[in-house]
Amino acid sequence: MEIIRSVADMRAWRKQAGKLAFVPTMGNLHEGHLKLVKAAREQADKVVVSIFVNRLQFGQGEDFDAYPRTFESDCEKLRAAGVDALFFPDERELYPRVKQDFNVEPPHIQNELCGAFRPGHFRGVATVVTKLFNIVQPDVACFGKKDYQQLHVIQAMVDDLNSPIAIVPVDTGRADDGLALSSRNGYLSAEERAEAPRLYRNLCAIRDGLLAGSHDYAALEKTARDDLSAAGWVVDYVEVRQADTLEIAHAGEKRLVVLAAARLGKTRLIDNIEVFR
Ligand code: PAF
Repeated sequence: MEIIRSVADMRAWRKQAGKLAFVPTMGNLHEGHLKLVKAAREQADKVVVSIFVNRLQFGQGEDFDAYPRTFESDCEKLRAAGVDALFFPDERELYPRVKQDFNVEPPHIQNELCGAFRPGHFRGVATVVTKLFNIVQPDVACFGKKDYQQLHVIQAMVDDLNSPIAIVPVDTGRADDGLALSSRNGYLSAEERAEAPRLYRNLCAIRDGLLAGSHDYAALEKTARDDLSAAGWVVDYVEVRQADTLEIAHAGEKRLVVLAAARLGKTRLIDNIEVFR
């Protein structure tokens, strides 16, 4: 696996790569990322992964400096997964003028769901992904459904800006007890880890209610919020939304997604489940 640190070298490598699939990450890799890599391998001749902890998408009070940097073990995992190149720029390389005056501004959805609790987050994501797309110039890019709102923002951005990149959504990897794989699971104590699957169980309960024919989204959401709160979680949101647009779901909607974010101790977990009926 080639490790590429400069924009110029990345562009030069890309020229000889043929059909190229891209998996952008912030490192601290786990099985969920490797699932993205596997999906990427099925899409193209060559696979490039990036590792860049993007300051722009961290809000105040979100600890950018404490974000785990695990370069050596990440490289081992990527080599074993057959990745062809790792793009690993430093901040100076990606933000040469230090401050970023031009940003990619997502529409109103950036202020809803996770965006309501993380102001500026999706703008930071859209901006860095645009920069990475411009540098790596992939044909295909893989994003996990675990970050459903992020996937939606990126797909809408690519559509609206006519970017020549096919976005491939990849199903969420889960532990045997249902917990969505996430770098943040590493922050959970043993006790919290045992409690964490409650989030997914509540999403499944809402899914079952929807599939049984319920259109009372508010009641389903409230039951889940109450169950989580009673177990000591601090709930940011549990919402049933339209799967294709992430807009508010109305009764009778057939393609839905249930999204949730809640804090267990100091760790904020997110998850979602699609429901097509
Ligand atoms: O999902 C992530 O890890 C990040 O948001 C991404 C897409 C790599 C942008 O920094």
